[in-house]
Amino acid sequence: MRRKFAVFAAILVVLGIIVVFAAASAGVAPPDPAAGKVESVMCATCHGADGMSAATDVPNLAGQHYEYLIEQLIAFKEGTRRSGVMNEMVRPMSLAQLRNVAAYYSTVPVTVGTSNARQ
Ligand code: HEC
Repeated sequence: MRRKFAVFAAILVVLGIIVVFAAASAGVAPPDPAAGKVESVMCATCHGADGMSAATDVPNLAGQHYEYLIEQLIAFKEGTRRSGVMNEMVRPMSLAQLRNVAAYYSTVPVTVGTSNARQ
């Protein structure tokens, strides 16, 4: 009887671990700005270092709201917002990666008037 209970308890523990891993891989884990900073290296070519764009036809991302950024990135990925460049950029990226870069750019401190594209 006791042995059956031990087996039952062990099964419950294993199921619990599976649920936790499934939740993490489903993007439930909080976004990681530090990982996003690493991933943003490929974005810097156009959006500038720290998301301050030098090109006047590329938007600044630094200090933008997280909710706005992740909404745009998902829209680019799903194709509901069209931009030849951005659709291609985010297509191979996972939701977790998009959340990380959105978290990174949203945490870059900005001061009004610091855009390096301003003349
Ligand atoms: C080759 C240049 C290029 C690269 C590389 C690039 N972007 Fe963009 N991005 C653009 C342009 C151009 C736009 C404006 C798109 C439009 O006109 O709708 C844009 C728009 C955006 C927007 C919407 C901003 C807004 O104000 O609505 C976000 C968010 C964004 N990019 C994030 C990223 C991220 C994150 C990466 C890296 C994974 C990245 N971009 C890489 C050129 C680029």
